[in-house]
Amino acid sequence: MKTLLIVSGGIEACHGIRHAKDMGFKVVCSDANPEAPGFDLADGHFVASTYDAEATAAGAEEYVRKHGPIDGVTTIGADVPLTVATVAARLKLPGISLASARLATDKLAMKEQFAKCGVPVPWFSAVASAEDLLKIVKARGRNLVIKPVDSRGSRGVQRLSHVADLPAAFVFAHDYSPTHRVMVEEYLDGPQVSTESTVINGRCFTPGFSDRNYEYLDTYAPFFIENGGDLPSHLPQAIQDEVKDVVARAAAALGVETGTVKGDIVVHDGKVFVIELAARLSGGFFCSREIPLNTGVDFIGAAFRLALGLPVTEEGVTPKYQRHIIQRYVIPKPGTVVSIGGNEEALKIPGVIEAFITAKSGDVIPPAGDKRPSAAMVLATGETRDQALEAAKAAIAKLAIVTA
Ligand SMILES: Nc1ncnc2c1ncn2[C@@H]1O[C@H](COP(=O)(O)OP(=O)(O)OP(=O)(O)O)[C@@H](O)[C@H]1O
Ligand SMILES: [Mg+2]
Repeated sequence: MKTLLIVSGGIEACHGIRHAKDMGFKVVCSDANPEAPGFDLADGHFVASTYDAEATAAGAEEYVRKHGPIDGVTTIGADVPLTVATVAARLKLPGISLASARLATDKLAMKEQFAKCGVPVPWFSAVASAEDLLKIVKARGRNLVIKPVDSRGSRGVQRLSHVADLPAAFVFAHDYSPTHRVMVEEYLDGPQVSTESTVINGRCFTPGFSDRNYEYLDTYAPFFIENGGDLPSHLPQAIQDEVKDVVARAAAALGVETGTVKGDIVVHDGKVFVIELAARLSGGFFCSREIPLNTGVDFIGAAFRLALGLPVTEEGVTPKYQRHIIQRYVIPKPGTVVSIGGNEEALKIPGVIEAFITAKSGDVIPPAGDKRPSAAMVLATGETRDQALEAAKAAIAKLAIVTA
């Protein structure tokens, strides 16, 4: 029996832990939280912060000494490719290299590498200080996005055309960077796409393809708050093909030979640009729910097999169909959650697959710009996109998440 180490035992990882066990694998789980919900599901566990690559690698080595071999390592619901690559290197397991993982967690190094390899990216620059930012804005105008070089979840990412105080925007982005580094990019308007691909011996397959829903772009400006996605994509086939080609080139530029890459793509003036390519499984429900519902592809199953060095066929990552799936996050007013309800009624609506309240009473819903302020997630299907969307909207209308 193969043993898979899943780095993270958080709520989002639980689905994956169950899935790996259903596939017949033994699962070991690591997390900083000794009470991580994943520990109850896994066959074995050890305590180590997902962000602490050294501690996780040491914990994995100790586990192997005491309990026998670990055959593969991956992560779900955590943005920690460096930890995964460190464990893989130390235990000599399949996976991306440390160099690829480093590029994937540094937005500036990643964009430099993309530019060097001819992968289209927005104009970008490092920003050393608030004064530096003022100089850049003087030279290039305000059609820019400022962001921490190495944060996640859109924290500190701001459109400069919508901020009044530029030095404050610099400080805000700066404070979210663990290494205190900030960059700017040209803001490219146009449809945005999330992709998720499986790379097998240098061949890139992209069964995950979702139009990102940004209907609140103006409401929450200068922050970017995505409130869901639509599958299949509405973009013309030629553009979808170009997106897939660009993603494949971006994966190659990062040196990902075998593994998973998750793309943030923008189609600006009919041309495809990469905003970011993560070298890991997506967070949220994209890889675990949306891709399988939309295409019939067992996406995380393929990722687990690759992590264990088992073969994955082209058929295994090729969509079997294109079912309409609408996903929406529910974003309540910032404040403390005082009551939740309505999910049972929502689930009775035809076409509603999931109506999942993530917030609990007492949780604090932060303002936009901090972390994604969602409190619930709805997944719906239908014969047509409109039918699926109507079902999703009806479900959201039933959900009552009250903040005060
Ligand atoms: N240059 C750009 N042009 C247009 N939109 C952008 C640009 N840079 C960032 N965005 C928008 O802001 C979002 C967050 O930016 P980015 O991916 O760089 O930060 P992040 O912290 O990794 O966030 P996330 O976890 O949401 O991907 C992007 O997904 C995209 O929607
Ligand atoms: Mg991103």
